Amino acid sequence: MPETESRKSDHIKIVLEKDVQHKGSAGFDDVLLIHNAMPEMDFDDVDTEIEFLGKKLAAPVLVSGMTGGTAEAERINRNLARAAEEAGVGMGVGSQRAMIENGKLMSTYSVRDVAPRMLLIGNIGAAQFAKGYGVGECRTAVESIKADALAIHLNAAQELVQPEGDRNWKGIISAVRQVAKELGYPVIVKETGAGINGDVAKAIEAAGVKAIDVSGSGGTSWTAVESFRNSPVGNTFNNWGIPTAVAVAWCKKSVKIPILASGGIYNGLDAAKAISLGASACTIARPLLRAAVTSYEKTKAELERIIRELRIAMFLTGSKNIKQFQGRKPIVTGKTSEMMTQI
Ligand SMILES: Cc1cc2nc3c(=O)[nH]c(=O)nc-3n(C[C@H](O)[C@H](O)[C@H](O)COP(=O)(O)O)c2cc1C
Repeated sequence: MPETESRKSDHIKIVLEKDVQHKGSAGFDDVLLIHNAMPEMDFDDVDTEIEFLGKKLAAPVLVSGMTGGTAEAERINRNLARAAEEAGVGMGVGSQRAMIENGKLMSTYSVRDVAPRMLLIGNIGAAQFAKGYGVGECRTAVESIKADALAIHLNAAQELVQPEGDRNWKGIISAVRQVAKELGYPVIVKETGAGINGDVAKAIEAAGVKAIDVSGSGGTSWTAVESFRNSPVGNTFNNWGIPTAVAVAWCKKSVKIPILASGGIYNGLDAAKAISLGASACTIARPLLRAAVTSYEKTKAELERIIRELRIAMFLTGSKNIKQFQGRKPIVTGKTSEMMTQI
């Protein structure tokens, strides 16, 4: 099996079998939504619908980009896509480098036949730009799977702790600018569990990117994943990163483009808290991977649980729709509040 594919299989196995949870908090325990004891509304009237990148989503939830490139990944992507289509939410595929290197692997990312309407997002690693990838590869990634947008992922922490990881991160922002200008599809920039700070968010916005997924710390730790492979720096950086709640607030106050929240958002209450801090929507990875290795039914049930929890949080704050809910400012306490005063 070529290196990229074998690394992808290792990653899925490690994420499912080992303790790769970041040991710091994503910050949501410190976020308090204000209870409304007299909401004066019917639960059935709570409307979670949003519009994102020109498509309607039944709820502000997307499946994070995770996989592709192997037979198992193909099954996982199809389970995720069927479930997301039926739940009315969006989905990203994992890094498409494997299929760009080997066109035969395209089918492992192709989900349009089971999800014709879903907001679908392609995925490329930013580090590939330093190795010669450009607009052409990005176009192949989007168009070959009939995606609506492209996510460019930032994973410097993961690369630096890998023995074979990419070391050259020069020139990334100008490459992102060129792709955002010439691709003809919306570009999202996302982290992968270490978060995005306000200055980086400003540079990303100035490059013409349409949305930022902060993917902060407090969920899956990619440095921890690498420590279960053969990282030469052990687990020193396992708990690196900006907590998701802090990254959301920081990016929100720094830029005008939509912010997506991910990294340790594992239920609809955390999703609600992220939205109350300024996120337009949330993206979720590891819990949905766990469900999708089993079945599409389990994945759909997991998505429905998360959306139901979000609706309950909206009802209990007296919010009929997402716009109204975004106006309900939370109380932030503890370490998360302290961090927010320093950003
Ligand atoms: C098995 C797995 C594979 C992943 N592969 C990718 C990838 O190829 N591209 C990417 O942008 N993010 C990838 N991610 C990162 C997620 O999109 C997300 O940013 C991160 O896992 C934090 O979210 P979580 O705490 O909900 O897991 C992957 C995550 C998992 C669990």
